[in-house]
Amino acid sequence: MSILKNGVKVGLCSDHAGYELKNIIEGYLEARGIEYVDFGTHSTESCDYPDYAHPCALAVEAGQVYPGIAICGTGNGIGMTLNKHQGIRAALCWEEDIARLARQHNDANVLVLPARFISPEKALSIVDVFLDTAFEGGRHQRRIDKMPVK
Ligand code: RB5
Repeated sequence: MSILKNGVKVGLCSDHAGYELKNIIEGYLEARGIEYVDFGTHSTESCDYPDYAHPCALAVEAGQVYPGIAICGTGNGIGMTLNKHQGIRAALCWEEDIARLARQHNDANVLVLPARFISPEKALSIVDVFLDTAFEGGRHQRRIDKMPVK
């Protein structure tokens, strides 16, 4: 079941290490007819991932985009930055099963990919799983409700 919401675009962000994979994912989304907002970066020139992660996180929290897809070299820097936002549940995924569980159990609202450690084919397969897996709710809802720092 698709998690995409009518009239809401997917949000993408990356640093320079994730720029090329971001382009590949955007091409894939276009081929699937999925609209997106690109929060940058817009080249392979060295940059700082928080400059792109924070605007993307704010837009996800505001419901302006959903879900987010974020990419840096390892996925850690951009994922750590995203998870500073109380409304963000950003999940670093390098296998399809991790992405599936991040959706089913954690209701992850941002998929984080490690560009330097997975192939483009693997990344697209992970994107597919993430976009097509529903949250299970129930006991998992209780747990994610306890995540935000009051
Ligand atoms: C950039 O060289 C690299 O540090 C960044 O993409 C990311 O892996 C940091 O967590």
